[in-house]
Amino acid sequence: MGQYFSNEKLKSKIKKYETTIAGHAFSFYTDLGVFCKDYLDFGTRLLLETINKDSIEGDLLDVGCGYGPMGIFALKNYSVKVTMIDVNRRALHLAKRNLKENQVEAIVLESDCYQNIDKKYDVIITNPPIRAGKDIVYKILFGAKDHLKEHGKLFLVIRKEQGAKSIISDLEKQYTVIIRNKKKGFYCLECNLPLTS
Ligand SMILES: C[S@@+](CC[C@H](N)C(=O)[O-])C[C@H]1O[C@@H](n2cnc3c(N)ncnc32)[C@H](O)[C@@H]1O
Repeated sequence: MGQYFSNEKLKSKIKKYETTIAGHAFSFYTDLGVFCKDYLDFGTRLLLETINKDSIEGDLLDVGCGYGPMGIFALKNYSVKVTMIDVNRRALHLAKRNLKENQVEAIVLESDCYQNIDKKYDVIITNPPIRAGKDIVYKILFGAKDHLKEHGKLFLVIRKEQGAKSIISDLEKQYTVIIRNKKKGFYCLECNLPLTS
């Protein structure tokens, strides 16, 4: 759970790893107390590689950005303006450092779910914090509706053993859900708002 809270008192052991995502090279600084500090999370990679060929543009919100891989990938791949949010200050600090490291720019904000977000986005992307509990995950997934433009899309990755099937059936009550990819128990989902007539 430590990765989901302010953790100024936790010891620091900054390291940097390099990786390639969909043919683009990235370097990421990570530290103790942040999600997946040694390598790019499998679910994150699968989602980014799944949507790699999509034509994404406009304003993108990276919810639970961690040290920044999703937002930074989006900036390198698409014509987007990115806002990155998280509750973990150490992760936010690393996200800012990683933006510089990868020579891209974004707005980085501390925000508990959408608390400090007052605008709407073309795309919201998240690998939600399952360990923070269902309430937080559902706040992120269903709160997205209020922060998406009319034709906006929510992209997310979830794992079968973390309740993917019931989350998908709950999402289907509010969104049109497309399972874009499924591998090793991870589901990559695209959720669209129902069309208003
Ligand atoms: C599964 S990690 C994904 C991190 C990063 N996007 C990645 O793919 O490596 C989920 C992130 O959500 C953040 N988080 C937890 N609770 C949150 C909340 N209430 N509001 C915003 N972010 C939260 C965690 O700190 C963590 O960085």
